[in-house]
Amino acid sequence: MSGEKDGSGLYEALDGTGLSIYPKDELSDRQVQVRPDGTVEAVDDLGFALGFRITRRRKLTLLPERINSPGAAPQRGFNEIGANEDAAALPRTLSHVVYFVPDAAKMEAFYIQRLGFAVMDRFTGGGPFLRPASNTDHHTLFLIQTPEYMKGIEHFAFHMQGPTELMLAGSRMVKKGYQSFWGPGRHKFGSNWFWYFNSPMGTHAEFDADMDVFDDKWEPRVLPMRTEHSQIFLLEHREKWAPGG
Ligand SMILES: [Fe+2]
Repeated sequence: MSGEKDGSGLYEALDGTGLSIYPKDELSDRQVQVRPDGTVEAVDDLGFALGFRITRRRKLTLLPERINSPGAAPQRGFNEIGANEDAAALPRTLSHVVYFVPDAAKMEAFYIQRLGFAVMDRFTGGGPFLRPASNTDHHTLFLIQTPEYMKGIEHFAFHMQGPTELMLAGSRMVKKGYQSFWGPGRHKFGSNWFWYFNSPMGTHAEFDADMDVFDDKWEPRVLPMRTEHSQIFLLEHREKWAPGG
């Protein structure tokens, strides 16, 4: 299966043949339904919904966040301003989804053995960071072991241009009255900047930026799931302020 998580439970077939592609043999032990639009639906081993469809992704050609750093060639040219308070700061792509699961080992086996995901890193006492074969992001799916009653979606995340637009978007969320849940900060595994908010959907929603990418040569790291391993620093939003007498 060559597929890519789109963040909403859908795994997109990427071969572009126009056929309804999904891992038929791997899902032969469960009920599979085909929607009128050709999307194939099933559930994973703990009952989370799965969907498979021909990809609708558009290739993005956008500028990254550009910084000027001593000792390196400037990424922004002369007279080009870096602090743009009016930047749209919109999400670019869906990044990942995180499930609270009562049996992380069972879920890990399903996604690896049936759908060809790979483990990128792992928190002992937590769970694995997983990515499907065609996506180089550190994780599109992260599983966290919890008691049964907590089972469900913990959060989903959107990739932003970079840390500046993440900060802009998060600051606007605070100003609009949304409750900051965690962040801003920078994760250790994946290196992504993060800022989580309570969402009206009953889950958390995350802006992230500058996530590591990987290929098959990567050797997964293993660390206990503790606060010092969940971020390299953690900040707190403050009201705007200016020095003065
Ligand atoms: Fe996340």
